[in-house]
Amino acid sequence: MKFFILIAIAVVGFAFTAQQKKAEAWKVPAEYKSMENPLANDKASVNTGKMVYMKHCRSCHGNAGLGDGPKAARLKTFPGDFSGAEFQGQSDGEIMYKTIFGRDEMPNYETKIPSKKERWALVNYMRTFKK
Ligand code: HEC
Repeated sequence: MKFFILIAIAVVGFAFTAQQKKAEAWKVPAEYKSMENPLANDKASVNTGKMVYMKHCRSCHGNAGLGDGPKAARLKTFPGDFSGAEFQGQSDGEIMYKTIFGRDEMPNYETKIPSKKERWALVNYMRTFKK
């Protein structure tokens, strides 16, 4: 009996994770794509970015940006793998645009993160996830 319960839990668990769909491509406006990051990618900006990330982003995106934070399993869309080549191949401006404007389950941070410095610092911190 115990065995069957375990199987049932495994099947339900699998069905749940299998339901999480891969995100569709974003339409990032050209002016954001080519926007230059005004911050130096130094220790200070990375530390600022880390602080903001731990407060606002970790819950879904996870400690290492793998999309496995404590809230991630409840999301319909996979939040993305920030360590991979596909993510890291984007420009700083694209990453900043997605971070601040969001869409659907990815929250909008225009008012929660008003500081331009913190927005770009987040991008610098997300660059540290690169494999
Ligand atoms: C409530 C959960 C949640 C929180 C909190 C959250 N995100 Fe997201 N994020 C998502 C989801 C889900 C997606 C995928 C959405 C889509 O593509 O439609 C996403 C997508 C992204 C993307 C695009 C990924 C790619 O592959 O290009 C970036 C960048 C991003 N988030 C950054 C952040 C940052 C930075 C924060 C904190 C300021 C944050 N997110 C907070 C859920 C979240």
